[in-house]
Amino acid sequence: MSADARKRAAAEAALEWVKDGMVVGVGTGSTVNHFIDCLVSMRQRIKGAVSSSQASTARLQAAGIEVMDLNSVGELEVYVDGADEATRHLQLIKGGGAALTREKIVAAASQRFVCIVDDSKLVDVLGRFPLPVEVVPMARSYVARQLVRLGGQPVYREGVVTDNGNVILDVHNLEITDPAALEGEINQLAGVVCNGLFARRPADVLVIAGASGITTLKR
Ligand code: A5P
Repeated sequence: MSADARKRAAAEAALEWVKDGMVVGVGTGSTVNHFIDCLVSMRQRIKGAVSSSQASTARLQAAGIEVMDLNSVGELEVYVDGADEATRHLQLIKGGGAALTREKIVAAASQRFVCIVDDSKLVDVLGRFPLPVEVVPMARSYVARQLVRLGGQPVYREGVVTDNGNVILDVHNLEITDPAALEGEINQLAGVVCNGLFARRPADVLVIAGASGITTLKR
């Protein structure tokens, strides 16, 4: 089974958490694109979606699904999104698609975060995937120096501007033994908008698609 077919399988499995009348939180990325395609079959039964990126908004609208403002819908029952890495404790690295800040906001505003991945994303310890950090442009060099002090090797993601007008530093070679502590520490740096560790608010459900089918882990 190809990686793309496994992403599709994870996306299909996530439909189980979508109920009639819901406003569904929708993440960003190639796995979520499959989820949006699957959600089309339920479009008459849901109220709409809250989107975590301009890319997902465009795909949802093209599919005929109404995209709503988070400020007008309040708390969401469910948020479905992918990840770049996930542990069995349901802690994640996200932000490979540069949408981490809005993803973190929608996750925070949701009762249940259903994370959908293919099994290549599963790791014992987070950090093989470089940790994305969204930074206000004028703080890029300052934040990069602080990230070096924390033991990482930040690399500026050239040519990328986030939906919020900021830039991304991808931090290589971090030893992430305590993801929640590191998430907080990086967020304390002046100029950091958000980092891609989802440890303080991890997923509630992790749907993993592998060659032998779907495995679901819950908190
Ligand atoms: C977007 O910023 C990311 O957090 C994505 O959720 C993550 O990169 C997973 O993307 P894929 O589903 O494309 O692997």
